[in-house]
Amino acid sequence: MARILVLYYSSYGHVSTMAEAVAAGIRDAGHEADIRRVAETAPEDVVKNFGFQHDESHDLIEGPDVLGEYDGLVLGAPTRFGRLPSQMAAFLDTCGGVWASGALIGKPGAVFTSSNSQHGGQETTLFSMITNLMHFGMSIIGLDYGFEGQNGIDEVKGGAPYGATTIAGPDGSRQPSQVEIDGAKYLGRRVANTAAKMAG
Ligand SMILES: Cc1cc2nc3c(=O)[nH]c(=O)nc-3n(C[C@H](O)[C@H](O)[C@H](O)COP(=O)(O)O)c2cc1C
Repeated sequence: MARILVLYYSSYGHVSTMAEAVAAGIRDAGHEADIRRVAETAPEDVVKNFGFQHDESHDLIEGPDVLGEYDGLVLGAPTRFGRLPSQMAAFLDTCGGVWASGALIGKPGAVFTSSNSQHGGQETTLFSMITNLMHFGMSIIGLDYGFEGQNGIDEVKGGAPYGATTIAGPDGSRQPSQVEIDGAKYLGRRVANTAAKMAG
């Protein structure tokens, strides 16, 4: 059985919902998943003016070193101008110790995101987080085409070979659709099954 950390930041709940789906995929496959969030670092006036939620749906990450205790890591964060948000970057920038220890080398890592528009930078955001995971020495797991739900143009939907995604819509009111949830579950399952094989 693999033990996977799902670590996210979310301002309005979309990425939080996707984190739950990633974790559900891990657990459905018989593995263990912990969901943690990184701290809000935006100034209080920004939090207020932009209506960021005070996310208490999951516990805060205990610190950077716990990352090394897991068999795999799945990072999720919304798009900010086509890249990862400062809240997630701020946490990752505290991970020098875990990087230096080599504790994540060779372990599977994956990413997921959300954006308001369909082409508002999902893939570049995914890659901005993949960059970090590769510096940690992780082996990247994508949302491979075994997940057929990402194909087709029958409906508006997220999902990319580089990670699971959802689209929040121009006013943020759209919630993750069934196919997007299924993509997140597939990604979680794939990471956990890979971690179990690598550890074995
Ligand atoms: C400062 C800022 C920059 C953003 N930049 C983008 C962007 O480049 N492209 C886009 O489609 N959405 C952008 N958004 C919208 C967010 O990606 C959207 O609110 C988020 O995906 C919702 O996820 P959440 O509910 O987990 O926070 C931006 C939002 C903020 C507050």
